Amino acid sequence: MHSKLFKTCFLVMILFIGKATSQEVITVSTENTALVLQTDKDSSLLATYLGKKLKNTDEYAVINSLDKFKVGNDDLFNKREAYVASGSLNLMEPALSVTHSDGNKSVVLQYVNHEVKKIDDNQTLTTIVLKDERYKFQVTLFYKAYYKEDVIEQWSEIEHKEKGNVVLNKYASANLTLQGKKFFLKNHYSGWGREMLSEEQQLLHGIRTLDSKLGTRSNLLHSSSFMISINKPAGEKEGEVIAGSLEWSGNFKIDFETFDEYYLRVTAGINNFSSNYTLKSSEKFTTPRFVYTYSDEGKGRASRNLQRWARTYQLAQGSGQRQTILNNWETTYFDFNDEKLNELTKDTKKLGVDVFLLDDGWFGNKYPRNGASAGLGDWQYNKQKLKNGISSIGKEATAHGVKFGIWIEPEMVNPKSELYEKHPDWIIRQPGIKEFYMRNQLVLDLTNPSVQDFVYNTVEQLFKEVPELAFIKWDCNSLIYNAHSPFLKNQDHFYIEYVRGLNKVLERVRAKYPKTPMMLCAGGGSRVDYAALQYFTEFWPSDNTNPFDRIFMQWEYSYYFPSIAVDNHVTDMGKQPIKFKTDVAMMGKLGFDIRVNELDAKDLLYAQNAVKLYNGIKDIIWHGDQYRLQDPHDEKVASMAYVKETQEEAIVFNYYVATTFNTTIGLPIKMQGLDPKKQYRIEEINLYPETQSPIDSSKIYSGDFLMKVGFNPEANAKRTSVILRVKVVN
Ligand code: DGJ
Repeated sequence: MHSKLFKTCFLVMILFIGKATSQEVITVSTENTALVLQTDKDSSLLATYLGKKLKNTDEYAVINSLDKFKVGNDDLFNKREAYVASGSLNLMEPALSVTHSDGNKSVVLQYVNHEVKKIDDNQTLTTIVLKDERYKFQVTLFYKAYYKEDVIEQWSEIEHKEKGNVVLNKYASANLTLQGKKFFLKNHYSGWGREMLSEEQQLLHGIRTLDSKLGTRSNLLHSSSFMISINKPAGEKEGEVIAGSLEWSGNFKIDFETFDEYYLRVTAGINNFSSNYTLKSSEKFTTPRFVYTYSDEGKGRASRNLQRWARTYQLAQGSGQRQTILNNWETTYFDFNDEKLNELTKDTKKLGVDVFLLDDGWFGNKYPRNGASAGLGDWQYNKQKLKNGISSIGKEATAHGVKFGIWIEPEMVNPKSELYEKHPDWIIRQPGIKEFYMRNQLVLDLTNPSVQDFVYNTVEQLFKEVPELAFIKWDCNSLIYNAHSPFLKNQDHFYIEYVRGLNKVLERVRAKYPKTPMMLCAGGGSRVDYAALQYFTEFWPSDNTNPFDRIFMQWEYSYYFPSIAVDNHVTDMGKQPIKFKTDVAMMGKLGFDIRVNELDAKDLLYAQNAVKLYNGIKDIIWHGDQYRLQDPHDEKVASMAYVKETQEEAIVFNYYVATTFNTTIGLPIKMQGLDPKKQYRIEEINLYPETQSPIDSSKIYSGDFLMKVGFNPEANAKRTSVILRVKVVN
């Protein structure tokens, strides 16, 4: 499932192998963080600490003795177990709950041994084997530490050698037990066009659950990424916080259980809803990874840790390059033909972007895709619209000096399609009840290997037909109603096998086409998780491209995802001037979805210059460190900075987001991430033709000054969008 692990396993060096002795203390540490695990006298594995690293590692062993959380303490009737199993001592929300082959429902996990492997200078994998001695039942816990990024990935593997099958009723990836006086959860809720709305609240006593039962588009209602602040809501620069995200593209469940006076236990994993998993003898069940980072320097640091980790290890080509785009979705919708598309490939060149991306509507003949109600599943180009075939668009694009990309939605089918007629057995639906549709479509049964082949072949066929193909947008517009697989014998495995099937296809696509950029889309951002992002170079955050809303949305995505992965397009949505729209889109991966031929001369010149400028600064935006300087939810001016690793240059985006007509200047905004000892010059960039900047670029400031006193972008109701370049003076 996770191909990177297999690749790296060959390179590892085993540092340590431990066997059960009296008291084992196992520390999983990164540059600044330590997670401490310790066995007790019953050989239970306890997680005794997660927080800032100690200078003296011998002292980790002492932590447990100071903990109130001990068996025998009247208040508490369980242990601070690293992976909580039900049916014995633990009476709260478990990570693991099973029915053994003999019907017994208890699991008592005891430490057997552990191993620490150094994969390279930065990555260490700690593996801990736990067993229930009464049964031949084993859980292996994995902790992969990324030293420089302060990130840990945690997951588990469950197996047994019982005579019959074991049913896994719950099988979370990980538990975290945190200690503090209060806990605050920052979580995100969404709907179509309003992704990643955010709220932050104290977790009162009891269980708070973030989950999804949607099958596909699993983040449509709730994100599987979150932050927990300890004691008080963390700020950008101060406070203790954990940022976490579950690497799974299907149903998830994250429970936050506060108990006693001082504890929070997080249980993250696949949602066990309608998914009792039957595990055969010797079969291994590997849970998805739960990735998290701890920061005692606020949310900003936590985000940068995750973003860095993603760029270096998780996101497809995270440290590589990206293509800028002209997309035709909002400009043509389904209404186009060869001539129009050829004009658009010319416009792509005129604008100066890299790829022309042909969106929905190019396929279907018996049931032409002229709207959202027909054709899905029939991936042959529409002969009326594209008289010369899809391959000729690829050739035209190349002839005009641009690349060609294409939209697909291969997991889906419209009832009005040849595929629906030919393969009723490939469709997810309950026999005997009415079909329910989302966007007039149904989901194909990816648990079925023949369907997996069909989806893979759809992609392969496109590459054969259009050898120039240089970009893919992979959409997914329906969730799963009437969940039932005509293929599977055990419907309890459906939700899990769907995701496994999808991942198998994506593995195959990536094995054959490792370098082609691919955009992850689910009618917007309802499938943004770090499992999917190992196959995709970027994601479409939302169909809402109004730049005002995007300032907020991009802000929220930035808590977990790096800007290189975020596709932002300039469109007709919103009444803001093109400068405002383009500036906002430049904060991630820039693209356009506009009628270039309808731009007036000045707007066109501005857009062309903006693309050129972007090409000069994109490296800082894609690979630099991101600092959220001023929150659009709280202030009149929103400000976000991207700082080059060498601290020699920063790009700062500022937007006036208030509705009051204010043309005076506000308080200075404090920079972050600069070198206090270096001298910098501030210059406004990306100006609209024939406008002057009030920013005096002859002035020099120390990094110290800019971070303590600040700078003023002079953003106001008349200057709603201001980009500044802060550059070191030699
Ligand atoms: C939903 C996507 O979010 C849009 O960008 C567009 O590709 C449409 N689907 C096409 O049907």
